[in-house]
Amino acid sequence: MNKALRKAIIAGNWKMNKTRPEAKELLEAIKPLVANADGKVEVVACVPFTNLETAVNATAGSNIKIGAENVHYEKSGAFTGEISADMLTEIGVTYVVIGHSERRQYFAETDETVNKRTKAALAAGLLPIVCVGEMLAEREAGITSEIVGKQIKLDLAGLTAEDVKKTVIAYEPVWAIGTGKTATADQAEEVCAFIRATIASLYDQATADAVTIQYGGSMNAKNCAELLAKPNVDGGLIGGASLKADDFNVIVQAAVNG
Ligand code: 13P
Repeated sequence: MNKALRKAIIAGNWKMNKTRPEAKELLEAIKPLVANADGKVEVVACVPFTNLETAVNATAGSNIKIGAENVHYEKSGAFTGEISADMLTEIGVTYVVIGHSERRQYFAETDETVNKRTKAALAAGLLPIVCVGEMLAEREAGITSEIVGKQIKLDLAGLTAEDVKKTVIAYEPVWAIGTGKTATADQAEEVCAFIRATIASLYDQATADAVTIQYGGSMNAKNCAELLAKPNVDGGLIGGASLKADDFNVIVQAAVNG
């Protein structure tokens, strides 16, 4: 297990926040703060579809990469309201969040569609950030590893080892999202290590060692250093704290120093 074998990635997930002028302002504020992370930690902002072009332009020539928050699995066609992977790459988008628990909970997304979206993203050259995580009742019932293991197996089904190496996994316990209840660093490490072991069993250790595994769920300026110091926590997917330039930067710097 060696963190140097993989990329550290700090990604903001803005969710349904920020108009275009607000997006530009936030990115302009973040840009100089995180410039020193270049070559050490990948810094990503995943923003609403309407902000993507603004965000790509605002970060051109900087070390910030832009991500979308979802992608459809078909290339084109009669899918009103959906956005294809080619539409995203054409704008200059690099990453895409797939299977966020809010998509699974409120928009009925399943492991099957997560798998299809992941394949479509990879085929178009996008880097997927695939989200997994258990609900509170599942943790309390002691079935966290069953749930997360099943998600990993189904979400990555049919991917080649090369594809898996390009895929980022975000472990986001649903009970920790937007609640202020963070998993302890030991809880995060335990599940991130389990995810890596699952990938090693599906592929091989070298593939598993190459995969970036993030923690997400109420990660903030105060708790980030302890979480990011864990051997299997390679970064963070940050909701609320990514909307404040200074807080987001503290998390980026913790990853640079970790
Ligand atoms: P919060 O950081 O607001 O808890 O959100 C986490 C998340 O869902 C990131 O995708």
